[in-house]
Amino acid sequence: MIVKVQFLTPRRMFEEYKPLLAVALEAQGIAADIAMDHAPETVDYIVYAPSGGPTDFTPYTNARAVLGLWAGVESALSNPTLTLPYTRMVDPGLTEGMVEWVTGHVLRHHLGMDADITRTDATWRKHIPPLARHRKVGVLGLGELGAACASTLAGLNFDTAGWSRTAKAVPGVACHSGTDGLHTVIAHSEILVLLLPLTPATENLLDATRLAILPQGAIIINPGRGALIDDTALLAALDSGALSHATLDVFREEPLPASHPFWHHPKVTVTPHIASETRAATAVQVLAENIRRDRAGAPLLHRLDRIRGY
Ligand SMILES: NC(=O)c1ccc[n+]([C@@H]2O[C@H](COP(=O)([O-])OP(=O)(O)OC[C@H]3O[C@@H](n4cnc5c(N)ncnc54)[C@H](OP(=O)(O)O)[C@@H]3O)[C@@H](O)[C@H]2O)c1
Repeated sequence: MIVKVQFLTPRRMFEEYKPLLAVALEAQGIAADIAMDHAPETVDYIVYAPSGGPTDFTPYTNARAVLGLWAGVESALSNPTLTLPYTRMVDPGLTEGMVEWVTGHVLRHHLGMDADITRTDATWRKHIPPLARHRKVGVLGLGELGAACASTLAGLNFDTAGWSRTAKAVPGVACHSGTDGLHTVIAHSEILVLLLPLTPATENLLDATRLAILPQGAIIINPGRGALIDDTALLAALDSGALSHATLDVFREEPLPASHPFWHHPKVTVTPHIASETRAATAVQVLAENIRRDRAGAPLLHRLDRIRGY
């Protein structure tokens, strides 16, 4: 039997993924017809990356699953026509990229690199950073991305704590959960990394009250989702000196509007949602494995839990 795979993605992604996915499926012993224009009722699996307006999934009456190409699930959750099983992307390449981005930005702040990079005078002024073992770092969210980042930071000797909804064990990381655990990790963190999904339970998690628990002069690094932080409270904490910097990759509105104060704030670094990307070469292995599993009657990996919201 030939499996019909429909791409609902921008065309450039289809062109990049199609030959790689064909090889990955063939390696799994699956013959597939991969296209962007199958008759909807004939489609078995949909590979999905939102582009533009909402997609109508109702014509895909015989599809078995929608396989998302992004780690985040907001567009799937907000689409009332998407009632099929939905898998989000957990891709080793995406994880690797996030570890590199987070480690780079943590090291920038830990080592105080800006002082030398932005120096305009000729003063021989030394600033010796502490060793990583004396720098307290926290990671909120210990899922695929957060656990990998926390583990790498701990491997560099950072004094690393982490927080998740359910109890976790990450070697070298002091893992916490629950409300008390959240306060413990925030109070610990001279550098706090946010790698939580956006759900009703995490929206505005870092409000004025919780920002006030951070150590004096702390730094926030947010590659998670913009709405995890109360923007107004963050700006107030930066302006008062309670926080010394925020490196933000994600925003409530993207692209970040040109008029937004984050763009020109001296204590804010804006990166345009580039912390990490799904990498086709590794992602197709995940897509092929999920199709193989479904054909074999095994549960899909990385399935969205609509009740939990991630
Ligand atoms: N900027 C970028 O380029 C980029 C790229 C990819 C992803 N992201 C963002 O990164 C997020 C994390 O991705 P992921 O793959 O690591 O997700 P994941 O594997 O689903 O992990 C999510 C983590 O957050 C924890 N969590 C969720 N709700 C919580 C709550 N109410 N209280 C405490 N902890 C909670 C989970 O706890 P449990 O372990 O107990 O379930 C888990 O540890 C994505 O949702 C997306 O927003 C950004």
